[in-house]
Amino acid sequence: MKLENKVAVVTGAGSGIGLAIANLFVAEGAKVVYSDVNVPNFKLDPAKAVFVKCDVADSLEVDALVKAAVEKFGRLDIMVSNAGIGSLGGILDTTDADWEKTLRINLFGVFYGARAAGNAMKAAGIKGNIINMSSILGSVGFPGAAAYSATKGGVVQLTHAAALDLAPLGIRVNAIAPGFIATNMTKAVLADENFNNMIKTNTPLGRVGEPDDIAQAALYLASDDAKYVTGTVIYVDGGWTAR
Ligand SMILES: NC(=O)c1ccc[n+]([C@@H]2O[C@H](COP(=O)([O-])OP(=O)(O)OC[C@H]3O[C@@H](n4cnc5c(N)ncnc54)[C@H](O)[C@@H]3O)[C@@H](O)[C@H]2O)c1
Repeated sequence: MKLENKVAVVTGAGSGIGLAIANLFVAEGAKVVYSDVNVPNFKLDPAKAVFVKCDVADSLEVDALVKAAVEKFGRLDIMVSNAGIGSLGGILDTTDADWEKTLRINLFGVFYGARAAGNAMKAAGIKGNIINMSSILGSVGFPGAAAYSATKGGVVQLTHAAALDLAPLGIRVNAIAPGFIATNMTKAVLADENFNNMIKTNTPLGRVGEPDDIAQAALYLASDDAKYVTGTVIYVDGGWTAR
């Protein structure tokens, strides 16, 4: 088991990619705080996991989430800032409200997570690590996703900046950039046969990804296997960005 004696927080763990990451971390021996803005209907083994409600757009709630993890399990080794929303809309039709909401959740939330987790690790002298969820849209364009793309590009640069700031403390910070993954977020667009075919055709490996594809990358980054890896972005995209 790769995460024995480690304590992790995963935001957006109520479904999709976050749930797959949290479940894999538990299977690998970690104690995990599953967090989400919505209370999920699944049960957790209290010896290994706990649910803490948190809206990542609120910095006080994110601070409280990290505090709750330390109180419950005694320490924090791994912070996965995964919570995010999809946001459709091109540059001409993105409203102020859409722009602000998307930034608050997808970018501010990741900043709040890195700051809170970094401070908790620093205070306890823990050489932990932070994983931020970006996207292929953080580095390549896609029509009709202006606010979303801006947040995911921001996550990449925030990851670089935080990695440099926290490296002297031995804390690693990395990002994952998934391609198109079958989750609630993409359910509606992937249900459209034309869109689905377009994604498959443009993905060199010829398929849409699964949440576990991303969880395996998170496990690598969270574990000591990645002890010399910081400030990097791992693309798990079936080859999308290689074209
Ligand atoms: N699915 C994809 O194709 C894909 C591709 C690239 C990146 N991502 C990113 O992966 C992450 C997870 O997305 P997913 O595909 O699993 O979607 P999902 O909708 O299944 O899961 C997102 C989770 O985040 C939670 N959430 C939403 N707003 C929140 C908030 N304010 N505070 C806390 N939790 C909140 C939701 O309740 C949900 O459980 C997101 O950051 C997303 O942008 C997804």
